[in-house]
Amino acid sequence: MCGIVGYIGNKKTQDVLLNGLKDLEYRGYDSAGIALLEQDNIEVCKAVGKVDNLRNELKKINNKNYKIGIGHTRWATHGKPTYENAHPHLGEYSYVVHNGIIENYKQIKEELLKDGHIFISQTDTEVIVHLFENYNNKLNNIKEAFKKTIKKLKGAYSILLITKEHKNKIFFFKSGSPLIVAKGKEKGEVLFSSTDSPLIGLSNDVVYLEDEVGGIASSKGIEFFNDNYKWSTLPTSKESAQKDGFDFFMEKEIYEQSDVSNDCMIGRLQDDEILFDEIDSNILEDINEIKLCACGTSYHAALASSYLFERLSKIRTSVEIASEFRYKKPLLSKQTLFIVVSQSGETADSLEALKMAKKEGLKTLVICNANNSSMTRLANISILARAGIEKGVASTKAFSTQTIVLWMISLYFAKIKNNISKEKLAEEIQTLRQVPKALIVNNTIHEKIKRLSKRYLHGHGFFFIGRDIFFPLALEGALKLKEISYLHAEGYPAGEMKHGPIALVDSELFTIALMPQNLLYDKIKSNVEELSARDSTICTISPLNFDLSDDFIKTQKAKHYMLEFFEMLVVLQLLSLEIAIRLKNDVDMPRNLAKSVTVE
Ligand code: M6R
Repeated sequence: MCGIVGYIGNKKTQDVLLNGLKDLEYRGYDSAGIALLEQDNIEVCKAVGKVDNLRNELKKINNKNYKIGIGHTRWATHGKPTYENAHPHLGEYSYVVHNGIIENYKQIKEELLKDGHIFISQTDTEVIVHLFENYNNKLNNIKEAFKKTIKKLKGAYSILLITKEHKNKIFFFKSGSPLIVAKGKEKGEVLFSSTDSPLIGLSNDVVYLEDEVGGIASSKGIEFFNDNYKWSTLPTSKESAQKDGFDFFMEKEIYEQSDVSNDCMIGRLQDDEILFDEIDSNILEDINEIKLCACGTSYHAALASSYLFERLSKIRTSVEIASEFRYKKPLLSKQTLFIVVSQSGETADSLEALKMAKKEGLKTLVICNANNSSMTRLANISILARAGIEKGVASTKAFSTQTIVLWMISLYFAKIKNNISKEKLAEEIQTLRQVPKALIVNNTIHEKIKRLSKRYLHGHGFFFIGRDIFFPLALEGALKLKEISYLHAEGYPAGEMKHGPIALVDSELFTIALMPQNLLYDKIKSNVEELSARDSTICTISPLNFDLSDDFIKTQKAKHYMLEFFEMLVVLQLLSLEIAIRLKNDVDMPRNLAKSVTVE
């Protein structure tokens, strides 16, 4: 997730771009850059790190009044957060900024290399500008060259491109990643942005571009390549715009999960294959065990994946809570692959565990959401979750993307180990492709949860119960509720209730039961019946009607338990959110917690 901005007009272009980028900084701050165009001169300025670094760099270059410019703030996906990888990217005479992922960039790059193009970055983005110039050099028709470029690109992206060949124009296109084009308040002004927040105050009229819509903008007007666009009025509240109109970042992030799950899979699923550029195919040589280590929500993703590693890859797998692992004097073997899962890449306990494993000579792999973090710098291999910046302290989209990445890795390992049939692998990949749909928030369910949440504001606690991989999901549901509602909640494997916890049950003890159709349905049904017999108040989440429920949240019937897993995840997140809202708690910054726990 990156942020892009563009400007045509008489204001000081560099200031408009910098202010816009500052607003978009939450989308990524690995590096920032702008390109400004004036006659034959393209001025470019880039800096690693936050937008303020770019602001300082800009002070060093001349202070001309440019009439046109594009800018970018980066959340690295391909290539490290370096100066070379910072946008805008240059061809011979054009610059591009890009948000998203170009899935077929390798193939395009190979073709362009043969045509003599020289690349200086490791990004997927750089191919766009070279491809554009390659077409333009051959066709000598800038509009056709841009259209042909777009046609060739696969993936999810939005782009802005400027070129010395047409000094007063910005070429734009959206496919999958957000882009807004706006008329400025002054005559002839045109603005672009990834979200509406940077545009507030500068424009009233905007087009939220649909996918596969693009065009060419200049001070004389905006030409769209097709009719699939409509002008709307821009909202006036900046704060609400930053949250995309949601009241809380957590809510926005729950709703974003479907999109980011797509980002997380782009380029990694190809036909019936799983690809990880980051992992060598000999990774499992001499490995006979996997150990996962993490804290909090990331621990729950790790625990969920342990079911998949054993079931699909058929590799012995254990999971450790990082704070425990550090001091238990663990016996470590070099035949163990050590996987750390972390949203921030900075959690002290997980980082120390990673250092310990490395020191013992274990192969280390980190699943992380922050590219330039301490963990990604330390681990032998790092794989990004690509959830985009998560602002809510209660983690949501990091969990879903971590789980997807781990599921993909378990299949990748299964293939390397020859432990999965071609048909089974194809079926799993087919299911992975349906995850973004399972993560779409169902409005009817959200409305229902808003209503029923009022019945869960008192009592003496919650049991979240599930079996198999739905047990880590139950743990995650309970943690979410604890974090933001401050109500006591425990996650349990449903079969374990009769071994003690059931003693707590009465009508003021709420049970949230995860009852998927595709995994051990009859077993969990019996467990819930036992709780009902003791008068627990029961809320079941299931695609199958269950008579003993006091509240029932009906999920969709699905062919695979993992699709049920992700749909139920959204339900649990919304349930915590709505209870916390009713209790008037600070959802995004709950008491006593911090987003990144860098102390022991
Ligand atoms: O950044 P990490 O994933 O390493 O953080 C681990 C935990 O601190 C984190 O998941 C925490 O439990 C969240 N607040 C959960 O919502």
